[in-house]
Amino acid sequence: MWPRRASQQPASNPMRWVVVGTGAIAQKVTPLLARSKGCEVVAVASRSIERAKEFCATIEGATGAAALQLGGAAGAFTGGEAQFDAAYVTLPNRMHPAWTVGLLERGVRVLCEKPLAWRAEQVRAMAATAGARFAEGFMNLHHPVSARLRAIAQGGEEGPIGRLVEVQANRCSNMTLPERIATRRSHAWAGGAMMDLGCYCLSFARYVAGEEFVELRAHGELAPATPGETKQVDGTVHLEGAFPSGVRLRAKCSIMEQEPTHVRLIGTRGEAYCDWPWNPPEDAGAPVTVTRDGEELHEVVQGDSAFVYQFERFVRGERIWGGDWEAQQARAMEVCLEQLGVEY
Ligand SMILES: NC(=O)c1ccc[n+]([C@@H]2O[C@H](COP(=O)([O-])OP(=O)(O)OC[C@H]3O[C@@H](n4cnc5c(N)ncnc54)[C@H](OP(=O)(O)O)[C@@H]3O)[C@@H](O)[C@H]2O)c1
Repeated sequence: MWPRRASQQPASNPMRWVVVGTGAIAQKVTPLLARSKGCEVVAVASRSIERAKEFCATIEGATGAAALQLGGAAGAFTGGEAQFDAAYVTLPNRMHPAWTVGLLERGVRVLCEKPLAWRAEQVRAMAATAGARFAEGFMNLHHPVSARLRAIAQGGEEGPIGRLVEVQANRCSNMTLPERIATRRSHAWAGGAMMDLGCYCLSFARYVAGEEFVELRAHGELAPATPGETKQVDGTVHLEGAFPSGVRLRAKCSIMEQEPTHVRLIGTRGEAYCDWPWNPPEDAGAPVTVTRDGEELHEVVQGDSAFVYQFERFVRGERIWGGDWEAQQARAMEVCLEQLGVEY
């Protein structure tokens, strides 16, 4: 079964998606994908055809989709027929690069969950595929709060906080559930704090600063090995970075410690703070506090689910960042993982 090439898709037709994997994020996000403008979920793929069928029967937005089985080769499916233009890849981290390349080679556009890659060479292999169109699933960067924070960061001397000096980010979530430990703390599945959460800190800083790192330092502690494995992953990581303009990054990520999630932009005249910039709840929005010259200004940036913006932008072929965004992100990950002594 071969999908129709993306370039052959008539512009007015919805983009037909296959959801690859039926785990936690696939269950949460498939209804959002299905309600995104210009998107239709036509297939769901699992290692088990029974699980794919059950997913189609129970997950809103997937009813009516064809159940497929993951084939032997990366990017291949068996067990059913379906024509699709794009894949939303929700597999464990380790499988992302090979599956993205495999799907691209079959003419399928790919939106892959983060991290898409953790070595620049992996992104080069994706980009080398003829007509390749792929993106990394940093849904948070598509929510209006990210655009607002970037506008504040790039406002210059006369802007809300003055000239940007430092980006701070904190993304720490103690993974205690057995099924979370199984992948997040697993070396075999390329888990770890950087792959799960630190990648958000790097991409957020690059997005708001609008620059690429010239310096990156990562240090921290390893997590206890997941049962049945001997190699360990990074459990808690402190990141320090610098951009060409002199703007710095200070960030912390952890899969071992629970701390409030937040970002802070520090400028020459004040700072902006947001405690929910990753996936703001649709009913509450994201609160941003700007402090300048001792005065506090509060605003709430409202919006739809970050995932919906992400899918709709993907369908429209819009990129919100520069051409080699994914390669630069993978390079930053590579530098950090090397310093942490974690290799996948
Ligand atoms: N953007 C976000 O907010 C966000 C949030 C959470 C996770 N994520 C990302 O999404 C990805 C999946 O995370 P998750 O929490 O959904 O993980 P998960 O619950 O473990 O789901 C992964 C799914 O991959 C499929 N799979 C295929 N081959 C597999 C194999 N050999 N071993 C294990 N699973 C296999 C499984 O579906 P079948 O059993 O049907 O084959 C499994 O349910 C990760 O890369 C993670 O970083 C993103």
